Amino acid sequence: MSDILDIVSVRLDDENDALILLDQSRLPNEVIYHQYKTVEQIFDAIVTLQVRGAPAIGIAAAYGCYLAVKSKTELTHEQFLSFFAKIKDYLASSRPTAVNLFWALNRMERCCVENKHKKVSEIIALLKTEADRIRQEDEAVCYAIGEHALSLLSGNMGLLTHCNAGTLATAKYGTALAPMYLGQQRGYGFRVFADETRPLLQGARLTVWELAQAGIDVTLICDNMASIVMKQGLIDAVLVGCDRVAANGDTANKIGTSGVAILAKHYGIPFYVCAPLSTIDIQTPTGKDIEIELRKAEEITSAWYQKPMAPADVKSYNPAFDVTDAQLITAIITDKGILYPPFDISIQELMKGSN
Ligand code: MRU
Repeated sequence: MSDILDIVSVRLDDENDALILLDQSRLPNEVIYHQYKTVEQIFDAIVTLQVRGAPAIGIAAAYGCYLAVKSKTELTHEQFLSFFAKIKDYLASSRPTAVNLFWALNRMERCCVENKHKKVSEIIALLKTEADRIRQEDEAVCYAIGEHALSLLSGNMGLLTHCNAGTLATAKYGTALAPMYLGQQRGYGFRVFADETRPLLQGARLTVWELAQAGIDVTLICDNMASIVMKQGLIDAVLVGCDRVAANGDTANKIGTSGVAILAKHYGIPFYVCAPLSTIDIQTPTGKDIEIELRKAEEITSAWYQKPMAPADVKSYNPAFDVTDAQLITAIITDKGILYPPFDISIQELMKGSN
């Protein structure tokens, strides 16, 4: 159990001026850590999902900013701030949907601006501290989400999850998987069903890999099997992560999540979204305002297969996320407590209190 939670998917190797990532695109067949020294390499790692999951992307981008400016001690303040702004914009263009990316980059920028009267070398040191803080805070946030989520669950429940919102996607514990880890430590005996999560198989490759190593009873199903397991009474609750929660509670998460929510509503099964405060974006009024990432056709037509599984020039559509309407969500479980509908009100109250 301790082994999988000891895995660190994103960390800084300050001595060697590098970011170290567990390459999630190679799991589960290869457990490989790579070193990333340039901001271009970090950008590429985010785009190609070597690091993925909203909180982990934010942490990687924060360290990316720090590493990019670390040696720039000779710049004037003006040059430094303008260089930082370019790095920030570049990293922000890597993926559009997970708001944690922009949230982390904004925190790093605020650190620069608030300390602009200090020496450039001091600002750089503070940027490292800020990135470390983003990482450390995420661990505590995920643990708190796990505790709150566990208060809604009871022993021997069947739980369904989609994509990977686990320890790999965060600093530790995950969001939707955090209650599964805490429940395992406390003898809850959950039975977890993991959707494979087409097209990039985060459920098959990452979620079942994580949970099985923790000794959690996990069963892999294809995405189109969610209905049958719900109908057969095997699922007592659905727990998913998210990439952005709009001010009205509409929630973007991995493609396929909204279908699972519709099924859960049909079968009367609670549908819980696990969301760190950093994933709630009150600047985005509704789900319609969330930009959905479109990815390459090859992810549908040929990735994972020995030969392409579709005609070479087939027209394809590959949205990486979808939006679950707020009315399909039973509760949003945050690190600061559990939100219930109407979410526009409960989100506003929570965010007011957190400022
Ligand atoms: O494309 P991915 O793998 O980055 O998508 C990840 C998800 O959709 C996760 O559910 C979400 O980021 C939450 S991770 C705690």
